[in-house]
Amino acid sequence: MGKKITLSVIKADVGGNVGHSGVHPELLEKAREKLSGNPLLIDFYVAHVGDDINLIMTHEAGRNNGEIHQLAWDTFVECTEVAKKLKQYGAGQDLLADAFSGNIKGLGPGIAEMEFEERQSEPVIVFMADKTEPGAWNLPLYKMFADPFNTIGLVIDPKMHKGFDFEVRDTIENKKIVFSTPEDIYDMLVFIGAPGRFCIKRIFHRETKDIAAVSSTQRLNLMAGRYIGKDDPVCIVRCQSGYPAVGEALEPFTYPHLVAGWMRGSHHGPLMPVSMKEARPTRFDGPPRVVALGFQLAEGKLVGPQDLFDDPAFDQVRKEANRIANYMRRMGPFEPHRLPLDEMEYTTMPQVREKLKDRFIDLRK
Ligand code: F6R
Ligand code: MG
Ligand code: MG
Repeated sequence: MGKKITLSVIKADVGGNVGHSGVHPELLEKAREKLSGNPLLIDFYVAHVGDDINLIMTHEAGRNNGEIHQLAWDTFVECTEVAKKLKQYGAGQDLLADAFSGNIKGLGPGIAEMEFEERQSEPVIVFMADKTEPGAWNLPLYKMFADPFNTIGLVIDPKMHKGFDFEVRDTIENKKIVFSTPEDIYDMLVFIGAPGRFCIKRIFHRETKDIAAVSSTQRLNLMAGRYIGKDDPVCIVRCQSGYPAVGEALEPFTYPHLVAGWMRGSHHGPLMPVSMKEARPTRFDGPPRVVALGFQLAEGKLVGPQDLFDDPAFDQVRKEANRIANYMRRMGPFEPHRLPLDEMEYTTMPQVREKLKDRFIDLRK
């Protein structure tokens, strides 16, 4: 067996510039400085979407490696120092623990990692989103790996025709289940159609059993027991030769589906695919957006990135997303633009109820 490469994408919001809209260049510089020349890494790339810093790293240490996680944690801690100096908004907001304790899971930052033997040619896409939640990947991942109207390879490529296995997480009860597609599609949709709770964590090729895609499924608000930070998610997808073609992996984003997480993490809005240059959500702190960075791996080196949504072919979907954003905004504080009461990250309901308790007349008496 050949040597295995691990691709780790670890992200955190450690301070926004301005408000929650972007990341100051000095924070990105600090992250690059911290990762650069580190003997643990083969290569790295630092990016940001909105107020989240994404550390894209390759190495041979495997998934859940303590040293790699420590490196990411220390990087975010140092970026937080810069954020504090520049009085960035919410400095250190995603670092929930005071100190690192062996594994970054549960400490705040989002993680997506996959380990594989690099193929003859290894195209991968790193998707990164802001102002939304991990379940936002459910619909696009379903389309990429299980919908023949999106991915013609499922029908006409003998290497894909058998389908894919989907590992789905229940983020509330902390359970997982594996569905085999196409035969389990109807059962699976019962769950993944509820993206606030069930998230596609991993996808595997059914014949080779190799990893095809992985997402981050952290839910900060649940981990902390109260709302502290956002769960803005990342996702890695391997492409070509038995996996979706790059174009098949991008195609689901030509539909700006509605996701949760806009303004105060409490509104639905359309997910807009944008270039890195446009990854600064401003209107009503949004609308939610996604960037796709493509890399060719070469002995673990990240050759790239290609800024894949920086293409006029996505102009139409951006226009549609803005049209939907206008339509949704006109609902103001009403559902379903605003999330249902139990899913909002901010609420004044208990205080208002308390204040008005004597004015409510019980009609059952
Ligand atoms: C944060 C986000 C923003 C904030 C909003 C209020 O990622 O989605 O919409 O929730 O700007 O922020 P605070 O409560 O920090 O004033
Ligand atoms: Mg923020
Ligand atoms: Mg964010």
